[in-house]
Amino acid sequence: MKTDKVWFVTGASKGMGLSLVKKLIGEGYRLAATSRESQRLVDAVGHAEGTQFLPLEVDLTSAESIHQAFERTVAHFGKVDVLVNNAGYGIGGAVEEINQEEIKDSFDINVMAVIKTMQSAMPYFRQQQSGNIINISSIAGFAPGIGWAMYAATKYAVTGLSEVMAEDVKEFGVKVTVVAPGAFRTEFLEDSSLVFAKKKIEGYSAIRASHEKYAAMNGTQIGNPEMLAQVLIDLVGNPNPPIRLYLGSDAYSRATEKVNLLAEELENNKQISYSTDFN
Ligand SMILES: NC(=O)c1ccc[n+]([C@@H]2O[C@H](COP(=O)([O-])OP(=O)(O)OC[C@H]3O[C@@H](n4cnc5c(N)ncnc54)[C@H](OP(=O)(O)O)[C@@H]3O)[C@@H](O)[C@H]2O)c1
Repeated sequence: MKTDKVWFVTGASKGMGLSLVKKLIGEGYRLAATSRESQRLVDAVGHAEGTQFLPLEVDLTSAESIHQAFERTVAHFGKVDVLVNNAGYGIGGAVEEINQEEIKDSFDINVMAVIKTMQSAMPYFRQQQSGNIINISSIAGFAPGIGWAMYAATKYAVTGLSEVMAEDVKEFGVKVTVVAPGAFRTEFLEDSSLVFAKKKIEGYSAIRASHEKYAAMNGTQIGNPEMLAQVLIDLVGNPNPPIRLYLGSDAYSRATEKVNLLAEELENNKQISYSTDFN
């Protein structure tokens, strides 16, 4: 397999990012990976900085920190070919429970960091007339679950952004795929990752039940992050990668249900849709 491409992966000290980084190193790729704490990343990966691996301590809320990370990557490896926007976290709660800071923090990481990394990567990709961008959204960015409105808002943003981006950068030979995983067995549902609104308003029983259902799933999620990592590597080897990719049988089922629901709603309301045209 050709391993000449240089990868840049965000949020790599655990979960999917860590699985991907370990697999890339194992297969002989060169890569930069970011974390809030580079030592934690180095310890988790079990590989120090060298000719193959560049661990980077990056503040994903800062455009400057992200920009410098790309400069260091290109200085280290001579180029960058693949951007994987993996960093992200779940945020649960009713819309009226989640405060402005909690909302801003989640959008900063789940959405704004995706925009900032793409802005930093594109000048390199445009210049070399090639590149792959893989944005990790979620099935929540197409078929969301009760109790996760703000998380869904961030992941819908990633989905929409990626779909348009895919068309916008096509003429430069840059390929964009937005990945929508179902439940994967990572640290996503651990207290160290998942955030809930501090404020709790009584009466939201359906939301609490949904959160309990997710908590009970922790450790038994059907998705295997090792397999996901392999799919991401295969995507970059694909000359014609899909723009949208649903991963996990659960994501596939939820997406199918949503597609059917959309088709039904469209048809049921077709007359109303047409009714607003000028005659
Ligand atoms: N697991 C699932 O079921 C699932 C399903 C759908 C989508 N996803 C998405 O998949 C991606 C990876 O998640 P995962 O399942 O691997 O979860 P994870 O095990 O919790 O890992 C998340 C990674 O994101 C980074 N991150 C988390 N919170 C952050 C914050 N506040 N600021 C900066 N970085 C932060 C972390 O980077 P550092 O700690 O290294 O800085 C961490 O390595 C996320 O975008 C998530 O939304 C996950």
